[in-house]
Parts: sequence; structure tokens; C-alpha cells
Amino acid sequence: MTPKIQMLKIRKDFKSSQELLKVLGDISLFVNPGEFVSIIGPSGCGKSTVFQILTGLETYDEGQIKIDNIPLEKWHKKMSYMQQKDLLMPWRTVIENVLLPLEIQGAKKKDALNRVKELLPVFGLDGFDNAYPHQLSGGMRQRAALLRTVLTDSEIMLLDEPFGALDAINRSLMQQWLLEIWERFTHSVLFVTHDIEEAIFLSDRVYVLSQRPAKVVKEITIDFPRPRKKEFLVLPEFLEYKKSVLAALEPRQEAIPFIAGKE
Ligand SMILES: Nc1ncnc2c1ncn2[C@@H]1O[C@H](COP(=O)(O)OP(=O)(O)OP(=O)(O)O)[C@@H](O)[C@H]1O
Ligand SMILES: [Mg+2]
Repeated sequence: MTPKIQMLKIRKDFKSSQELLKVLGDISLFVNPGEFVSIIGPSGCGKSTVFQILTGLETYDEGQIKIDNIPLEKWHKKMSYMQQKDLLMPWRTVIENVLLPLEIQGAKKKDALNRVKELLPVFGLDGFDNAYPHQLSGGMRQRAALLRTVLTDSEIMLLDEPFGALDAINRSLMQQWLLEIWERFTHSVLFVTHDIEEAIFLSDRVYVLSQRPAKVVKEITIDFPRPRKKEFLVLPEFLEYKKSVLAALEPRQEAIPFIAGKE
């Protein structure tokens, strides 16, 4: 099977006038068509940078990226990308916000509107068409942002901590609901999260990254049937996966910085 996304030995430094920040040390990963893959790793290790690179918003220094087996630079389709912040425009209503990608794609206004109206109930936003982002709950804002991402109509969906701001109950609802959307639209998903349980529950595979400069320290296949129900969270298999991710996330001895005492 040709992977949808392939990153091979990607290295990336950020250079400022004073210093060089080594962010991605050696990232190799792939996502198969229709697969749900998560990336988990410590804060600041470069997860969002991976997405910035894939969407062409950042360059990389070494390595190779292929989408559909075509070098990234020559692959001219769009990826759906939900950035870490929801980035809804406060002066636009829900419907105007979610219409944005369709407007950019040049869809006919009436067709675009029909499509959005059809999807609003699926995304739990029925009746909120004309509300402004500040009138929505955190979960609704994230669902609106996700709806906008889904409407970009791409085979690849990059989601950067889409549920980061939610409490446990809303998070769990959103996870169930995202799986339904994913099963319905069959995208290839690359999903960034800090949450170990979320990564295991949602994914076919999980990549665990190290501290900066980030390397893939472990790749874990979550071999559990779908559709996944909440019961999965309390099974012994789930605990084993959790242990395995936790062990991979534990900082290695040499990664702990030396803290100098007072002289
Ligand atoms: N445009 C930039 N210029 C310079 N440094 C940057 C830039 N973007 C990110 N960085 C730095 O690169 C490192 C990785 O950032 P990134 O946002 O990719 O981390 P992350 O893994 O997504 O973190 P978090 O889990 O907190 O979201 C950080 O130290 C950050 O300060
Ligand atoms: Mg990030």
C-alpha cells in the first residue's frame, strides 16, 4: 500500500540571530490511506512544527516528505488543518466562519450554504448558524472549527490538539463524535495530543516523540477492533497500551538538565 503521508528523516532547526534551536532531530513516520495516526510527545518537542512543515507553512532542513508518493513540493492539493487554537474569526457568525474554506475554494454560495446547513446538525451546531464565536461554549467552538476543517474537503486531515481546551466529559463526547465523522468521511488523520488515553482510544497507530530535538522513540499499533466504544478504556489491553506509551514518554536519564546549585 502506498502511504498517504511519508516523512523520512526530517530534521528542522529554528535559527534566530542569537541561537540555533534544534527542534526535529529525526522524524520518520507514515500514515496509510484512511488510517488514524496520533503523535504524542512532550510540550515544545516540535509536534506543531511537523504540521507546519506538512502544510508548507515552514521549511525543513533535511529529509524527504512524500504525499501519495509525490514529493510534498510537487503535491498541489490541500490538506485540512486545524491549528492548535480554533482561530474562528470573532466578527463572523458560525455559518460565515465555516463557509470560509468553501469560499476560498470558489464554491457557489448557494451550494456551499446548503452543504453547511446539512452538516450543522451532524456537528451538534443546529440552530447556532447565526451565533458569534463568543456566544458558543468551548466545545461548540471546537466543533465549529472542526466542521470548517472537514469542509476543506481533503483526503488528509491534520488535527493539532483539537480538544485541548475541553473538560473530560466534553472531551470524551468529542472523541466519540470525531470517530463517527472519521468513519463517515474516511480521511487519513494525523492527530496531535498530549493525552495518552485519547491517543490510544482514537488511533490505529501512535508515534511517541522524545524531547527536543525530537525523534520517534516508539511506534505502537493499537490492535483493537472498531467501532471503539468507551468500554475499551477499562479493559486490560488498554492499560497495557497505556503502560507502553508512558514508558516511552519517560525522560531518559541523560535528558534531565543539570541544575546548578548556588555557589
Ligand atoms: N517560528 C518559530 N521560530 C522559532 N522557534 C519556533 C517557531 N515555532 C516553534 N518554535 C519553537 O520550536 C519548538 C517546538 O515548537 P512546537 O510548537 O512545534 O512544539 P509542540 O510540540 O507543538 O508543543 P506543544 O505541545 O506545547 O504545543 C518550541 O521550542 C518553540 O518555541
Ligand atoms: Mg503544539
